[in-house]
Amino acid sequence: MGGSARYTRQRERGNRDWVPVSLVHVPSHRRWGPTAFHLPGTWPLIGRGAELAFVVDAIVAQDCGGIVLAGGAGVGKTRLASEVVRAAAGQRCATEWVAATRAGASIPFGSFAHLLPDFVLSTVDQLGVLRRIVDALIARANGRRLVVAIDDAHLLDDASATLVHQLAGTRNAFILATLRAGVPAPDPIVALWKDGMAERLELQALSEGQVHELAVQVLGGHVDGAMSYTAFAINNKGKVRALAVAMEKRHPLLPDTPTFRELGVDWVDGAYRGIGVPKSTPAEVRKRLSDLWASLNDDPEMKELAAKSGFELVNVGSEQMDAFMKQKIKIYTEGAKLLNLGK
Ligand SMILES: Nc1ncnc2c1ncn2[C@@H]1O[C@H](COP(=O)(O)OP(=O)(O)OP(=O)(O)O)[C@@H](O)[C@H]1O
Ligand SMILES: [Mg+2]
Repeated sequence: MGGSARYTRQRERGNRDWVPVSLVHVPSHRRWGPTAFHLPGTWPLIGRGAELAFVVDAIVAQDCGGIVLAGGAGVGKTRLASEVVRAAAGQRCATEWVAATRAGASIPFGSFAHLLPDFVLSTVDQLGVLRRIVDALIARANGRRLVVAIDDAHLLDDASATLVHQLAGTRNAFILATLRAGVPAPDPIVALWKDGMAERLELQALSEGQVHELAVQVLGGHVDGAMSYTAFAINNKGKVRALAVAMEKRHPLLPDTPTFRELGVDWVDGAYRGIGVPKSTPAEVRKRLSDLWASLNDDPEMKELAAKSGFELVNVGSEQMDAFMKQKIKIYTEGAKLLNLGK
């Protein structure tokens, strides 16, 4: 939609010689501040300096096969493990990340699937398989110290758990496992610390003071507001949380996000992308252009593409444009007055 930018720029310069002939609507979600959308991808790490140093020292010292980070739900096991992996990579270690899941637990080597060499499928000798996988993983490290992080090791399938145990027993690999405390774990994982191959570190929840510090760092004037398109929220699921959508009905791709109206705010709105032509353009040319855009917006493939990315195509043709602009100018002028903007 190259024309949209052109239209916007002309309007910003106050050049009234351009008139919009076609607009496409992109619904908004949650308006906070007037411009920037700022959310950190990852929250700053608070505390954990001692734990991080302890684990990194153990990796460098090479005097144990690994460390098991155990703790209750949500205390920050995965986060600490990922910080350790980052620090280890900075120490020129080779790092691998394995995330165990309940679904993968029923498949032998399910959690390691992305790291397995091709030969595994054709090998029947179980011990031979394990040895060859260990060798292949160490070969991948290319002479560097190998750190294998296993997130949620209690969910490992038995074959993967045995492989982890074997890896911890080699001098070349360091196992960093996270484990939900109080939940049964496969025997080879328990054996890691029971047999003294690895150390078990109990991770405590952050203190009240640390949580306070985190809130101040994250919220302290940095995330005071954000407004963006539903498409942004849809394409960044997991990174942003849409609080409300300014739509008549909930967005099908954000079914858990309420509309503003549901929350008691009567607001349905969005951004419009426009195509502009010089004012001198004859009416029939304007109409032809507008019809072309209408048929493009009506194209099933275009509609499907737009819907998938979270865009709702609402075509405003040249015939409806004057009434539409009038209505919008009224709404935005009133809004600007409420914000003490403009005259
Ligand atoms: N020290 C920390 N500083 C800042 N944020 C943290 C810290 N520790 C954890 N977090 C954040 O808290 C949230 C929960 O942490 P995390 O997922 O690591 O917990 P967990 O113990 O692995 O949880 P689960 O038991 O569900 O696996 C994440 O968003 C994480 O980034
Ligand atoms: Mg976790």
